[in-house]
Amino acid sequence: MPFVTNKKLMDKAMEEGFALGAFNVNNMELIQGITEAAKELNAPLILQISRGARKYAGRNYIMKLIEAAEKETKLPIAIHLDHGDTFELCQEVIEDGFTSVMIDGSHEPFEGNIALTKKVVDYAHPKKVSVEAELGKLIGEQFDSGEGGKVAASAVYTDPNEAKTFVEKTKCDSLAVAIGTSHGAYKFKSEPKLDFERLKAIREIVKIPLVLHGSSSVLPEYVDICNKYGAAIKGSKGVPEDQIKQAVKIGVQKVNIDTDLRLGLTAGIRKALSEDPKNFDPRLYLGPARDLVKEIVKRKIKLLGCDNKADLFK
Ligand code: G3H
Ligand code: 13P
Ligand code: ZN
Repeated sequence: MPFVTNKKLMDKAMEEGFALGAFNVNNMELIQGITEAAKELNAPLILQISRGARKYAGRNYIMKLIEAAEKETKLPIAIHLDHGDTFELCQEVIEDGFTSVMIDGSHEPFEGNIALTKKVVDYAHPKKVSVEAELGKLIGEQFDSGEGGKVAASAVYTDPNEAKTFVEKTKCDSLAVAIGTSHGAYKFKSEPKLDFERLKAIREIVKIPLVLHGSSSVLPEYVDICNKYGAAIKGSKGVPEDQIKQAVKIGVQKVNIDTDLRLGLTAGIRKALSEDPKNFDPRLYLGPARDLVKEIVKRKIKLLGCDNKADLFK
């Protein structure tokens, strides 16, 4: 089927009470692992590309790889820009055929974030492209005042009233909120704990779909495989799966996953190369790595409840 927008997927997810997995992609193996998992579970998908991923794969390659995945799977897929940092980048990817963009103005002061987001919305909406914005800072619980850190949570997490004003003024289609998640493999120094009371308060007054960035669980089994075969990943900690489930129950419609896929791919490559040091055929180490990505994505799709939801978009 033709590519769809995040808005189409997420509005439906909000009605039906599930969340979409938004998976970061950089190369063919990741795209294949993710889309094969979704095909087997009949799940709609968001494939997201960061500025860095687009630079790595190349503007044309990334589009063609995703087009191939759609042709193979016939699934409802949104092509989304992750963490767009300028209006010009959003403009470029819309020309390329992305169906959704994120403009991340979270580094700007409130009014600056509104102005930048609104500029992107005014450009994207007439072109039928949906826009995700971000309010608050994803610096994670490790910086909370409660941890003796530098910054109080209330100063960086999303303020519900500001979120309401922000959405009204920008007309964005979805909003990424800061409630204690952060990017990467080292999200918490002590017990992982998201601010669910804040999420509930936001959900009550913000009527559009919500997004959770930094939502990898940093699954210990894949970290262990990496470490067993030569990596040195120590002290990593992600968002536990039950907390992801709870966030979806409260009302998050898009859950961003990159780190878990990186760990899975790396685990597969390390294991295959270590077990057969004579191997120098990329297919023999990238193939098993792709299988681990697929296994992880199947687990995510089930956790988010988007298995068997592809037919809702026919
Ligand atoms: O949120 C960031 C994503 O994990 C993308 O990371 O900019 O290294 O591609 P990247
Ligand atoms: P993770 O680093 O937790 O996978 O988060 C990815 C993300 O938020 C991409 O935008
Ligand atoms: Zn992110």
